[in-house]
Order: sequence, then C-alpha cells, then structure tokens
Amino acid sequence: MSQLLIKGGSPLAGETAVQGAKNSVLPILAATLLTGGQVALQNCPRLRDVDASIRILRALGCDARWEGDSLLVDTAGLNGCAISDILMREMRSSAIFLGAILARCGQAELSYPGGCELGPRPIDLHLAGLRELGAEIDDTGGTLHCRAARLVGRDLVLGLPSVGATENLMLAACGTEGVTTIANAAREPEIADLQDFLNACGARVSGAGTSTVTVEGGRRLHGGTFTVMPDRIAAATYLCAAASAGGEVLLRGARERDLATVTAVLREAGCHITAEAGGIACACPGRLKAVRPVRTAPYPGFPTDAQAVLMAALLRSRGATVFEENIFTNRYRHVDELTRMGADIRVAGRVAVVTGVKTLCGAAVRCTDLRGGAALCVAALAAEGESRVFETCHIDRGYEDIARDLRGLGADIRWTEEDRLTI
Ligand code: EPZ
Repeated sequence: MSQLLIKGGSPLAGETAVQGAKNSVLPILAATLLTGGQVALQNCPRLRDVDASIRILRALGCDARWEGDSLLVDTAGLNGCAISDILMREMRSSAIFLGAILARCGQAELSYPGGCELGPRPIDLHLAGLRELGAEIDDTGGTLHCRAARLVGRDLVLGLPSVGATENLMLAACGTEGVTTIANAAREPEIADLQDFLNACGARVSGAGTSTVTVEGGRRLHGGTFTVMPDRIAAATYLCAAASAGGEVLLRGARERDLATVTAVLREAGCHITAEAGGIACACPGRLKAVRPVRTAPYPGFPTDAQAVLMAALLRSRGATVFEENIFTNRYRHVDELTRMGADIRVAGRVAVVTGVKTLCGAAVRCTDLRGGAALCVAALAAEGESRVFETCHIDRGYEDIARDLRGLGADIRWTEEDRLTI
C-alpha cells in the first residue's frame, strides 16, 4: 500500500503541467461506444478511474490501449450490453455507460452503482430521463434490466442540474429519432467538452454550458481524434497547495475560466493570480486572510470538488471561514484527519467553520476519499515537520501522480512503499 511522505514548512516555487480532466474523459470514454469506430483521446490522464473504464470497454468487447499520453479506443467490436457487478462497483460513475449502451444496443444490464464515501449517489434522474426517452427499466433487486427497442427524442427537465444525468441523457439522446432537449442541465465545463467530443464524431449537440442542451438524434457517429480539456480540479488543488505553503507557481495548461470561483476566493484570501503563458500563475503570501462564506453549488457556483483543498489552504489563515457543503451529505470526512495536524475546524451538519491557527504539525493521516486525500497533502505542505499520508489509493483515482506534480512546484514529497504499521 503506497504512502506519501511530505516535509512541510517551506514555500513552493516551480511549475507543473495540469493533467487531462478525469470528469471529462470518463463520460467521453462511455461516448466512444456511440461511434462504433476508432477514437484517439489525447491528453488522457492515467488514473484508476480511467483504468476501470478501460476494463468495462474491454469487457464489452471493445479494444483500448495506450500510445504515449493518448488512449486509443476501438468500439467496433462491441459484443455485449451487460456490465458485471464487480466492474460496476470499481467506479461510482460507471452508471454513465448506461445511456451509451442503450443507444448503441437497444438494451443494457448493469447493477446499481451504489453509494460512495461522499454519501448516497442516487441515479433516479438518469433513469427518469431514460424512461421518458422510451426505455423500459426494471430496477428491482439491485440490477437494472433496460430495454429500448426505440428511443424517441423528447423535451426533458431535470429535477436538479445533475452532471451525470445530463451526460447520460446526452449520450442516450444521440441514439433517438428526433430532437431531445434537456432543461435544467448541468453547466460544468466537462459537459461542453463532452459536447465538443460528440460533435467531432458527427453528432449535432448544442447548448452545453447553458441550462438547456439540445441533441439532434438519428445521426451516425464516427471515430476521430480529440484532446481532453485540462483538469480544473487538479488545477484548483495545486493553486491551493501554493496558497497553503506560500510561494510562486505556474500551472501550465490550466484554464482560469473553468475555475473562476476558486481563483476569486484565493484572490480574496490574498493570492495574486494571473492567466499567463497558456496557464495560471499564482503568487501567495506566507499567511492568508479568512474569506467570506464558501457555499458549494452547481457550476458556475463554487465546485464541491474544491471544498476540501480550499479548506486545507485556509487552515493557517487570519480569522475564520464558514464553509457550506450543499451538494453531498458526507463531504467533511477529511476534517478529523486535518485536526490531527492541529487544525481548528468545527462541523455542524452541512456547515464547517475553519478558524486559522498559527502553526500546523506534521502527522500520520489517512485518506478518506479522493479530494479529502488531496487536501491532506495540501495541509501537510504548510505543516512543520513530516507528514505521512496513507491509503493513497483514493488519490490515485483522480490524480495521475500528485507527488510528481507537487515536486514540480518545489514540494518535498515522495512515495514510499513502507507498511502502514511503521507509522
Ligand atoms: C460528478 O458526479 C463528478 N463526477 C463529481 O466529482 C462531482 O462532485 C459532481 O459531479 C458534482 O459536481 C464525475 O463527473 C465522474 P451529480 P455526479 O449527479 O455526476 C444528486 C470528484 O471528486 N443526484 O451532479 O455523480 C446527488 O446525490 C467527483 O471528481 C440525485 O439526487 O454528480 C448529488 O447530491 C466526486 N439523483 C447531486 O445530485 C440523480 O439521479 C449532484 O450529483 C443524480 C444526482
């Protein structure tokens, strides 16, 4: 079980390239099923969740292999429409394959993806939309038996702007006859990346980034080459690392427009952030100021995925900051671990109050989930002494190599294979 050793207390200085976006490439990998051809995904991040998606594609009879930092996928050989329970459980977002399999095969069988560390992860909005498009779904007994002899375009309205439901319905709508509109759609930049991928393969999708996405069905899609957008949450993580430790960094390839609410908060805290050299430059003082309440919300609101890493960056700030986590019910699991480093954080339901302390101390801390694990690394960079971060498998789900990237920014961080018991 890999662990991370981090020596904190020194400011950062350096630059790193930002990986391709996990939350864009996962729905795009599902969308490759619609093409029935060869797709080359450039800037594809090497992540555990991408590996899980590759296993699903191969289990469905498709081919997927790496060529440098491109992933080559060929879905011509698709010969199945069922995803095993084991594969479904490997990755919570595997439900995203449902719409594409239905559109391509007219049927699908997969188990409920189940909850995750962040709390229940229902897919009722996905299923309701697919049923309105004409799918018959028997969701008893933990397995989804889906049939769609014919999918017909409809005007759909989402009960809430769910990212996954928007993406699943965009993919299913590509397989319908007629036009589908998805109102109250999620507006995240990853939705626009999916739209760009689909259109590059011959689809006709519009409106991504607004609250209404329109898909013209009945079009035959083909393969092609596509470059995945930069990961805005990885970029937010590394900006928060610089904010936490102080110093000056450059994130090559990061697009500030994708994380404007995060950079706005970091500027309020005292960081100097500019769009530079095809990326984002960030200069942070030794100690930040506390900021106005941070409320997570669907895009363009403050991203829930950046809540933990921003909290970690503010642990030594002057004053107190109120966080309100409005997307997931259990997304403060990193708080207990941050407290081991000397953080002062009080949680009551959806609210967490972070009161800045003068110093943090290195400690042995356990990753509880993907972004909570990244937050422990961010905090450890500001802590005096050495921290050991274990159960880092959570971090590998969304970061290609967080130690490589933070070392590029000047951090003293390395992987170790020592057994946890030596802590
Ligand atoms: C996506 O998850 C991201 N994952 C998450 O990133 C991200 O936190 C989330 O969007 C919100 O931005 C991927 O893109 C792979 P949702 P998703 O459907 O699609 C409720 C990370 O750290 N809901 O927008 O699952 C749901 O319970 C991960 O990279 C329903 O009630 O998010 C949640 O409270 C974590 N019914 C809220 O909506 C549904 O049918 C937002 O969920 C679907 C969702």
